[in-house]
Amino acid sequence: MKFRAFLISTALTAVTISYGTLAHAADVKEVQMLHWWTSGGEAAALDVIKQAVAKQGFAWKDVPVAGGGGGAAMTTLKANVAAGNPPTASQILGYYALEYAEQGSLADISSLAGKDGWDKVVPAALQKFAKTNGKWGAVPINIHSVNWIWLNKAVMEKIGGTEPKNFDEFVALLDKAKKAGVIPLALGGQPWQEATMFDSIVASTGGTDFYKKAFVDLDEGALKSDTMKKSFDNLAKLRDYVDPNYTGRDWNLATAMVIKGDALVQVMGDWAKGEFAAAHKEAGKDYLCYRFPGTDGSVFYNSDMFAFFKVPADRQAAQLALAQVTMNPDVQSAFNVIKGSVPARTDVSDAAFDICGKKGIADVKTANAKGTFFGSLAQNYAQPPAIATAYYDVVTKFMHGGIKTSDIAVTELVKAINAAK
Ligand code: GAL
Repeated sequence: MKFRAFLISTALTAVTISYGTLAHAADVKEVQMLHWWTSGGEAAALDVIKQAVAKQGFAWKDVPVAGGGGGAAMTTLKANVAAGNPPTASQILGYYALEYAEQGSLADISSLAGKDGWDKVVPAALQKFAKTNGKWGAVPINIHSVNWIWLNKAVMEKIGGTEPKNFDEFVALLDKAKKAGVIPLALGGQPWQEATMFDSIVASTGGTDFYKKAFVDLDEGALKSDTMKKSFDNLAKLRDYVDPNYTGRDWNLATAMVIKGDALVQVMGDWAKGEFAAAHKEAGKDYLCYRFPGTDGSVFYNSDMFAFFKVPADRQAAQLALAQVTMNPDVQSAFNVIKGSVPARTDVSDAAFDICGKKGIADVKTANAKGTFFGSLAQNYAQPPAIATAYYDVVTKFMHGGIKTSDIAVTELVKAINAAK
């Protein structure tokens, strides 16, 4: 049975909406959605979902918890779930979803998944987080990846820059900008942003296999190797190119520096593209997107999922309504064009996407086929939250001088990860 209103009366006093077998008169007609999408691009993308939910006859109760990367939102969610007051759904990242599923907090929306054939269209890597013991408890709206750089094209032309193909060329490009009096690297000095950038540095410094060994397999030899030391050395090199005010800056303000031409480049996941789009900037004309130098061909991903918690029967129709619109191919296309990400369904056409979006979609396909599609550690797709947090701590301490050398950084990294295991 299609999930579709079949009777809508437009009379002011009586609006009757029926949802076939999925909804009943007593259902709560409201979707409460906890999320951290408060920047311009993020809010614009979320609006696509809101509109689609409204079309199904459900009101939208926004529960925004600001803070890029979602740390604050996850703290609020934890408190709400513990208090027995979960929202209809919450934006969530990989291992957080798995933890809630494993503790039995998530609903089972498998019947809808079966009816709509999600098993066939969602990449297996994502299903691992949306499904536990064969039961769907979350739905993926997108695939983001962290290994991107975003450059202001006019600034690039002004300094005579070309696409950097490896880490050394990237440093040379940043140097060029510095000599021309432009802030080379727009960074927000918050732990999650620094760790997100470090994911790319590790992949570039050691290659995809090294990234996998260190961050996916947690191989201790790789974690304390010279390659990891060199990765910290490379992080220190990039630190020379940020402006003095970078500490604590929000990620979207760093993107704004590139949009305005105050800085040359930002290293950031493709949610940055959502900010360019919201500022009416065009890919290839106003800005350039390249894979983080030395990582082309690999995709270090995260996926925004909506997790559905166990709720009383009268709130389940709202969950199913949200799940169904989220997995709708047209919604996935419209949402991701605005968000900067790639659809989580493999059957969505790239026709509506710009050149960066088309590359993103093609890259996911290739990486999936080649086995170079790996979860981002910083974005909670390589390890459980406790380990990701331990990683944040070491990277940020190193970045801000609390850890003085790369030698100490690798020792601290191994220690922190072992303690979090
Ligand atoms: C990521 C999330 C993205 C984007 C970003 C900045 O964790 O997956 O959708 O919102 O945080 O807030």
